[in-house]
Amino acid sequence: MDYIKLAKKAVEAKKNAYAPYSKFKVGAALLSEDGTTAAGCNIENSSYGLTICAERTALFKSYSDGKRKFKAMAITSDDPGFCPPCGACRQVLYELCGDIDIILVNHNQELKILKISELLPFPFDGRKLK
Ligand code: THU
Repeated sequence: MDYIKLAKKAVEAKKNAYAPYSKFKVGAALLSEDGTTAAGCNIENSSYGLTICAERTALFKSYSDGKRKFKAMAITSDDPGFCPPCGACRQVLYELCGDIDIILVNHNQELKILKISELLPFPFDGRKLK
């Protein structure tokens, strides 16, 4: 699947966001190496800390379906510009996906492609836990 198609899936997923508190909707779509995709949106909670980001929704859906090898994730938001993933999502993406492509999608449907290693240089990882 090309990244433009993946970007469109993120745009579609954003429509399902539940964001009554921040009013900031985010959509994500994760492409596995087998060509399948999983989409996700942010889901907020009145106990704010229980909110889950769009990126982790998509990743956990895919991971719990047994997917283990990933190629790219597209992300879009209510911001007209590019919306990079938050720090927590960068850490989780690094742990479970490795150095995949992150495709940021703005309101003009333009793409900005970055590697996780660019977004999370010098990461903490499980090798430190002996
Ligand atoms: N949000 C995401 O879904 N992904 C990010 O990477 C940044 C933030 C959501 C969480 C919350 O529902 C809203 O955007 C405002 O922070």
